[in-house]
Amino acid sequence: MNLFLSILILLPIFSLADAPEAWQLGFQDPATPIMQGIIDLHHDIVFFMILIIVFVLWMITRTLYHFHYKKNPIPEKIIHGTTIEIAWTIMPSLILVLIAVPSFALLYSLDEVVDPAVTIKAIGHQWYWSYEYSDYSQSDDQSIAFDSYMIPDDDLELGQLRLLEVDNRMVVPANTHLRLIITAADVLHSWAVPSLGAKCDAVPGRLNQIPLFIKREGVFYGQCSELCGANHAFMPIVVEAVSLEDYISWVSNKLEEI
Ligand code: CUA
Repeated sequence: MNLFLSILILLPIFSLADAPEAWQLGFQDPATPIMQGIIDLHHDIVFFMILIIVFVLWMITRTLYHFHYKKNPIPEKIIHGTTIEIAWTIMPSLILVLIAVPSFALLYSLDEVVDPAVTIKAIGHQWYWSYEYSDYSQSDDQSIAFDSYMIPDDDLELGQLRLLEVDNRMVVPANTHLRLIITAADVLHSWAVPSLGAKCDAVPGRLNQIPLFIKREGVFYGQCSELCGANHAFMPIVVEAVSLEDYISWVSNKLEEI
């Protein structure tokens, strides 16, 4: 019993973080190939950035030291140097190409909707999200649709995340190609979940589309990411990725409610 309890207490320490932490500096753990790609590209670029910072700081320090007016009272008259000018033009362009290749590959993959098995519509409202699952309906008025409101502070239960938990989560199957269609009913909103690498504007009168492929089961937290009014900070997003069997039973339960 004691062992069981200590495992239970230690569990959150080892579990993956799919919500922000206090004073967090890095990324949340990725749950989609897209977020992994974003993190990899970030690391690629930081690699070049550190090389450049070290080189430039070294040059500045050397220049300030060697060409100080006390150390070097009579300046050189050189104003051109063809070789070095060619070098300092070509080298940065090569670095830019090295950054551009993986960057474009990632950029185009963000929009690639791979034959989705499930389509979900997310609609931003002032100030909550609503979700529609129309794949399973026999007629127009039969689709699964529900609102997703933030849980207010007073109603929070122990372990729930303040300003992040909602009453009705968006439930999706893990390891399945999903298509998310995003729009808004009133003003601009933005549907964003960091660990999924998803951020898409919700625009009234327009449908935006993003692909999702969640690689593991879990609960993923996000927030509206476009200033949309007084309660912009209070319309969080919760995605619950479950196994296919659990998803099917969730859908059939929802269909019975209609
Ligand atoms: Cu909705 Cu910000």
